[in-house]
Amino acid sequence: MRVRQFRRGDEAGIRGVMDASFDVDRMPGWTRQEIEVAISRMPADPVGVVVAEDGDEIVGYCAPRFDDLTVHPGHRRRGHGRRLARAAQQLAAEHGLSELALFVPSHLPGSVEFARAIGLHYSSSLWLFRLPAGRAVPGPVLPAGYETYAWPDDIDVEAFVDFANAAWEGHPTPLHLTPDLARLVADLPDFDPDGIRFVARAEAPGVPVAFAKTELRPDDDGRPVGWIGQIGVLPAHRGVGLGRWLLRWGVAYLRGRGAGAVELAVEAANDRALGLYLRNGFEPAVEWPHWVLPVDALIPANV
Ligand SMILES: CC(C)(COP(=O)(O)OP(=O)(O)OC[C@H]1O[C@@H](n2cnc3c(N)ncnc32)[C@H](O)[C@@H]1OP(=O)(O)O)[C@@H](O)C(=O)NCCC(=O)NCCS
Repeated sequence: MRVRQFRRGDEAGIRGVMDASFDVDRMPGWTRQEIEVAISRMPADPVGVVVAEDGDEIVGYCAPRFDDLTVHPGHRRRGHGRRLARAAQQLAAEHGLSELALFVPSHLPGSVEFARAIGLHYSSSLWLFRLPAGRAVPGPVLPAGYETYAWPDDIDVEAFVDFANAAWEGHPTPLHLTPDLARLVADLPDFDPDGIRFVARAEAPGVPVAFAKTELRPDDDGRPVGWIGQIGVLPAHRGVGLGRWLLRWGVAYLRGRGAGAVELAVEAANDRALGLYLRNGFEPAVEWPHWVLPVDALIPANV
């Protein structure tokens, strides 16, 4: 039994753990499509992923960037969770994070016991917000002096990544993008350049000051659900209505492509974003509690 870093080719083993866990103790709001989205990004995860092996079999994994630690239901209570948490703590420390954060589903007593046993404590919650199908949302009206455009084919990825990280400045949890991850996502078969919208000052076309990414993802019954991710506005352009414009643009774009409900995730601590979403018809649907552990805290061998 050992824990090691992710390498290409581990995807099938990780999918096996996710599928088996999905059947018995899935996170509310989590769909099979999300499993594929998470796995497709692992090769370029900026923080990294660790896997637990028993012989040649992958029996668990931890992706600290997604606050996700899961052990195959047939391999629990053998110390894999503890070993994965230790390795993930080390990865997080190596990447300059001060804490290891994990989602701990409140409805699963074993998960809460595990979290307590390794020393995690509740910190904050991420919420899945949902805009029900058919709920009226005003159309987007772009503030004067701005113009918009889709993801350009010839984008300078390095410059985009610098801009995106600046646009998320002040977010309660670090949303750090790297050029490798941006390139990997742009090369995925379902990447939709028109689903990404940039806003620029009219006098400086092509120099983005805000953006959002939308995706259409099927739910487990195959119905298309819209997803609005990563709305970001550079600090100097906040407060003029660009976030509202991007949200309403995203809703209109996704509905135009057949989305029923539209979803997004927001940190409970992000007051500015919460108000924006509530005022535009979104409602809280699922709470994902984050528990944290300082990266230098010692995880006890047993209790
Ligand atoms: C939570 C989870 C990751 C634990 O993995 P694991 O490999 O079984 O954990 P470990 O064997 O390392 O257990 C470490 C300690 O946690 C506690 N623990 C783990 N599972 C427990 C359970 N079902 N009931 C009570 N205590 C439990 C025990 O104190 C255990 O030590 P012990 O076995 O010496 O008594 C696993 O059950 C899982 O994948 N659950 C679904 C996904 C999930 O909820 N992830 C969130 C993780 S924070």
